[in-house]
Amino acid sequence: MFLSEGLSINKAGHLLVENCDTVELAEKFGTPLYVMSENTIRKNCRLFSKSMKQNYKNSLVIFASKALNCLEICRIVNDEGLGLDVVSGGELYTAKKAGFPMDRVFFHGNNKTSDELKMALESKVGRIIVDNVFELDELDELAGKMGVKADIMFRIKPGVDAHTHDFVKTGQIDSKFGFALENGEAFEAVKYTTKLKNVNLTGLHCHIGSQIFDDEPFIAAAEVMLKLYVKIKKELNITLSDLNLGGGFGIKYIESDDPMAYDKFMNTVSNVIHDFCSVNSIDVPRILIEPGRAIVGEAGTTLYTVGAIKEIENIRNYVFVNGGMGDNPRYALYNADYSAIIANKADATADYTATIAGKCCESGDLIQEDTKIAKPEKGDILAVLSTGAYNYSMSSNYNRIPRPAMVMVNEDKARVVIKRETYDDIIKNDI
Ligand code: LLP
Repeated sequence: MFLSEGLSINKAGHLLVENCDTVELAEKFGTPLYVMSENTIRKNCRLFSKSMKQNYKNSLVIFASKALNCLEICRIVNDEGLGLDVVSGGELYTAKKAGFPMDRVFFHGNNKTSDELKMALESKVGRIIVDNVFELDELDELAGKMGVKADIMFRIKPGVDAHTHDFVKTGQIDSKFGFALENGEAFEAVKYTTKLKNVNLTGLHCHIGSQIFDDEPFIAAAEVMLKLYVKIKKELNITLSDLNLGGGFGIKYIESDDPMAYDKFMNTVSNVIHDFCSVNSIDVPRILIEPGRAIVGEAGTTLYTVGAIKEIENIRNYVFVNGGMGDNPRYALYNADYSAIIANKADATADYTATIAGKCCESGDLIQEDTKIAKPEKGDILAVLSTGAYNYSMSSNYNRIPRPAMVMVNEDKARVVIKRETYDDIIKNDI
């Protein structure tokens, strides 16, 4: 059976996150509960940073905080020396409150509001990744008024198919993100920028999609982007110093998922980039990558308490948990795969076919259909694995259900990093 990074089973047959017994965590902190393994997060940060350093003279790993953003995550990622990708005023605000160095913040988004652009300039974020020409003009004007020069990058659609779910594919021309390459829009925008006084274009960015398992689309995207660097150098005599290849590195949700070894991947892409630059006589730019899921995904486990069980003969067995699409909307949205395990009998044979359903008034409120777990009983603790990315960050209060707490585990210690919402939190903005 597959257990994500940092998980194991003790002699009592209980699931452990690092050295913390999840059954005890559930008892102490209540359920539903997001449990994060700090050492797994740190290990992943180091794996990416180390392999980037080994492969490039100049590089930076940026954590895509849309995967999981809260004060403590910002602190940990900062401590590990990574940059931070933010896509909204809210994510930027959290980073500021966590004391994240603003020069390592990369501000993304396809429709940043004027207030967000102002906030980014006032905060002096390292780079604003400009998505379109409307934003470029507005930013130039705003920066002019504020008497500052904004360091920017352009989001480019490299026209590469990332072999992933349609909803999380972003690199093709029919995407809402970025400047298109095929029709010359990207090149024209670079040219146009030379006329603007208050922005400084440092490089280009692309992100081709998420939960990608093979290196081919990344290599194709890197080559396509570098071809544009060569054209920009030849025709405009501009040397761009940064190249951001985005995130999208796949992780393991179920046994059959086979993500690439990130360090091997880094090496392959680096060889392609170095060869390309040398053949085309351009300098190797600073290479940036933006993993989100691969840093926090497998580090997260969600604990629920099993409630009623409805066995509908010849149809399916519903196993109800005290959470659902409010804390994890990914099955409802993408039919996302997950592995589940009964935490208080983690060593029992998983021979029961369960459809794990939440408590929302919505038939689609499922965590997984027809998945194998040990025979469940009311009161069991059900753990859903690899929930560290895009669970808390995509959670909602649908049906006015308060969001779970999050605890950070470090070896045999666990600390609350996000408090459980209360009913008073639910009505706090009601008048
Ligand atoms: N950089 C940019 C510009 C992005 O848009 C994203 C993700 C990332 C980096 C990080 O991608 P990652 O390494 O995490 O795959 N909600 C979906 C995923 C949406 C991803 C959006 N952008 C899900 O739950 O699968």
